Amino acid sequence: MYNMTIEELLDKYPFSLAYFQDNKIEIEGRENLTFNEYLDSLSSEYIEDMAIDKEVLLEGLDLFIQQMNSFLEVEEDKGIYSLSILPGNNKSGEREGFNELTIRKSEIVSIVGPTGSGKSRLLADIEWTAQNDTPTGRTILINGELPDKKWRFSSNNKLVAQLSQNMNFVMDLTVMEFLQLHAESRMVVDIEGTIERIIQQANNLAGEKFQLDTPVTALSGGQSRALMIADTAILSSSPIVLIDEIENAGIDRRKALDLLVSEDKIVLMATHDPTLALIADKRIVIKNGGISEVIDTTKEEKEILHKLEEMDLYIQQMRSDLRKGNILEND
Ligand SMILES: Nc1ncnc2c1ncn2[C@@H]1O[C@H](COP(=O)(O)OP(=O)(O)O)[C@@H](O)[C@H]1O
Ligand SMILES: [Mg+2]
Repeated sequence: MYNMTIEELLDKYPFSLAYFQDNKIEIEGRENLTFNEYLDSLSSEYIEDMAIDKEVLLEGLDLFIQQMNSFLEVEEDKGIYSLSILPGNNKSGEREGFNELTIRKSEIVSIVGPTGSGKSRLLADIEWTAQNDTPTGRTILINGELPDKKWRFSSNNKLVAQLSQNMNFVMDLTVMEFLQLHAESRMVVDIEGTIERIIQQANNLAGEKFQLDTPVTALSGGQSRALMIADTAILSSSPIVLIDEIENAGIDRRKALDLLVSEDKIVLMATHDPTLALIADKRIVIKNGGISEVIDTTKEEKEILHKLEEMDLYIQQMRSDLRKGNILEND
């Protein structure tokens, strides 16, 4: 960095301005010099008056930038604000029909297309942060840049949380033990309060309530899905959530999405369910392994969504009445 001008330095490391200010170094009008040249240009009286030690200042800048960089890198884990997909090829080897698709924090994008068309493949590309090294040849950017491959392997601070079609617990733990382990590994301060929140939210999503002492292996499909969603939303620090066809899980899908999205995530969701597809701001249409279109949900579609949600509510009501042993009636 010694051969960068101050201007270039400030451009690349904007925080270095703080270093100059803290050390009362007046760089104004001399940004075209390197810091070294700047120090050389000072008169000896000025250097004496200001008690300037050139070596100390030069080394100090170096150290300051190093420390700020490593500090910011830690912060960067949580500072993910966008995910971009760059095109690859469909199953016939043809280039995909879009330039670059960027999805931002708190956005929900759905993925639609026939079975076998490549929806799960797209989610897998994102999970792997593909860099032209998957069957599709797609590239995934994070905050507009090629991400560090470390994301692929770090398990504790994963970039991506995935909720997939089949989720089975193999370990013999109660819900409480499972959440406690997870909360501890995430170094949560208020473990009890966090577990309480997760249980509450999970029960809010699942049809049938469960307790903290329920063994996870005894949860129904819908209950375990609800638990994983609440756990992901509240406990996972992963800024990107990928959901593969949760529609048949017997949970309140709308609430599940609201929960996931309220925590400032980037959400991608493969679905055959029109309600879920239209909740999204955008939908990716997949054909023959390739992204053929990206459609913004229209105003009219949002009105249709409203109708669909009323129909959903009606179906849920009927389902719940039947479960309770009620006789259904026309109103
Ligand atoms: N662009 C592509 N190039 C090559 N193979 C692909 C591509 N897209 C998908 N595939 C493959 O096609 C198969 C079906 O894709 P999948 O993602 O499981 O479909 P879906 O989830 O839509 O049912 C998978 O084996 C997948 O790896
Ligand atoms: Mg699939």
